[in-house]
Amino acid sequence: MLSLPAAGLVSSNCSLDGGFVPCPSNVFSEHEEGVIHVLVTGGAGYIGSHAALRLLKESYRVTIVDNLSRGNMGAVKVLQKLFPEPGQLQFVYADLGDLKAVNKIFSENAFDAVMHFAAVAYVGESTVDPLKYYHNITSNTLVILESMAAHDVRTLIYSSTCATYGEPEKMPITEETPQVPINPYGKAKKMAEDIILDYSKNSDMAVMILRYFNVIGSDPEGRLGEAPRPELREHGRISGACFDAARGVIPGLKVKGTDYKTHDGTCIRDYIDVTDLVDAHVKALKKAKPGEVGIYNVGTGRGRSVKEFVEACKKATGVEIKVDYLARRPGDYAEVFSDPTKIRHELNWTAQFTDLQESLQIAWRWQKAHRDGYAAAS
Ligand SMILES: NC(=O)c1ccc[n+]([C@@H]2O[C@H](COP(=O)([O-])OP(=O)(O)OC[C@H]3O[C@@H](n4cnc5c(N)ncnc54)[C@H](O)[C@@H]3O)[C@@H](O)[C@H]2O)c1
Repeated sequence: MLSLPAAGLVSSNCSLDGGFVPCPSNVFSEHEEGVIHVLVTGGAGYIGSHAALRLLKESYRVTIVDNLSRGNMGAVKVLQKLFPEPGQLQFVYADLGDLKAVNKIFSENAFDAVMHFAAVAYVGESTVDPLKYYHNITSNTLVILESMAAHDVRTLIYSSTCATYGEPEKMPITEETPQVPINPYGKAKKMAEDIILDYSKNSDMAVMILRYFNVIGSDPEGRLGEAPRPELREHGRISGACFDAARGVIPGLKVKGTDYKTHDGTCIRDYIDVTDLVDAHVKALKKAKPGEVGIYNVGTGRGRSVKEFVEACKKATGVEIKVDYLARRPGDYAEVFSDPTKIRHELNWTAQFTDLQESLQIAWRWQKAHRDGYAAAS
């Protein structure tokens, strides 16, 4: 069982041996020439932890804020062990819905930028519990923006999603494709985008909105991985389900929907490797300009069907996974893939990890070595 700091408490680890020793003076509270301090909300989660790792590797100062509702303290501990020097990384346990706690965090820290990853993020769950989604995504983004405005934090990189487009008739999806989300998750993210865009019209904030497609993979060096809570598995994403099936944690895979208008009847998605995704964030951060908003799709530009994905997963894991084909799931759309031209031209970013099987192999290595997720790493 992991011991957690009390809510709102900072754990700036200044220990050099992986234990916990609080920092003598709080270097996080002052701006420092040549150091960019990034608040990474949701940094204990899958994508946020990978982003924090990349930022730390590039000598950014990082504060992670997370309520650990879905993330893992084990991921934070991995980062703390890798970057133990004072002033590199601190973890703050807090809920972004707690206005007072968030304001305190902003008054006690000198942030230069915010990467706002924290969110609940399952389409299926959002159809069952929509209010949770509007609160956690839309309302909490408002809290973040208000705090940024009040404390003069001038750069925001926002995690949005292709789910804001809904089910467009024309593929591929460009940034000009009308946003007509069809589930509460996509709607909540679109509302958050709208709030950010309205605010940015009368402010000097530098804003980058990144609309991710389906994120897969993990750190090629095997330090971090994707470890959703067991109780969330039923809402989970396809890669997690494939790995669970390969490990025998679940009896097989349930592919939901075989009558979509696609070449093999299963849904088509654009799978983007998390290493490429965090690279897009760092490029966005570097190119963000005061008073300007950049909106970018982050995908490979190539759609793969669920059947193709399952085949790649079988090869990556070496396991002949059992597959059941079932009826459609509410809130899903048939075909989604990106046109990544804009991000290529403007941010000089292109996906590098485009071999599905290779991305899955990397992720599988971590999964095999961490049968209990991060529990084994702490
Ligand atoms: N994974 C994908 O395929 C995908 C695709 C498109 C967009 N996104 C977006 O990327 C972001 C990160 O997703 P992820 O896959 O890493 O999810 P995740 O669940 O692994 O990470 C989210 C993190 O946010 C934290 N969190 C949630 N609510 C919070 C709150 N109120 N206060 C503080 N912390 C809170 C969780 O504890 C968790 O650590 C989300 O905004 C999601 O909508 C993800």
